[in-house]
Amino acid sequence: MKFFAVLALCVVGAIASPLTADEADLVKSTWKQVSHNEADILAAVFAAYPDIQAKFPQFAGKDLASVKDTAAFATHATRIVSFLSEVIALSGNPSNEAAVQGLVSKLGTDHKARGVTAAQFGEFRTALVTYLSNHVTWGDNVAAAWNKALDTSMAIAVAQL
Ligand code: HEM
Repeated sequence: MKFFAVLALCVVGAIASPLTADEADLVKSTWKQVSHNEADILAAVFAAYPDIQAKFPQFAGKDLASVKDTAAFATHATRIVSFLSEVIALSGNPSNEAAVQGLVSKLGTDHKARGVTAAQFGEFRTALVTYLSNHVTWGDNVAAAWNKALDTSMAIAVAQL
């Protein structure tokens, strides 16, 4: 029993550990390769998971192709990408850790009010990683850095849902 308690603590510790400077550099350099493709990223998320699109009153029930080039779509895509850019810019520096946790925690709280589920955050993550793996210089080290970043931040956000 004690063994499982220690194991559980180790797992939580691993999930909560912040990125090293090298891991953060990998996330930052690869994010830079796609962070100008805001609408493309959001469209990939909606195409893979229509239930996420359905949560947006302005896009629900509409054909993705008919909304993708609208100003409303660009505005929301920019909000999401800017949020990710802000968190990524802060990563890799232990003195920014509290700020990162605060931003991600607030993201979760704000989305709880919209009825967004932990499963949908998981879907978002899957779609984002698929997009990244198809559009940036991808490899085991890059995948590991992104997965660690997403494990850490998603755990904090989802804990608020
Ligand atoms: C996974 C399922 C998600 C759903 C269904 C969802 C849904 C929504 C909705 C309905 C809004 C309000 C839009 C408006 O009023 O125009 C919103 C706002 C926002 N979302 Fe999400 N969202 C999801 C995940 C995310 C994630 C993972 C991020 C960041 C990486 C994010 C970042 C934002 C931001 C920055 C805003 C604007 C600020 C705010 O109002 O909170 N969302 N989201």
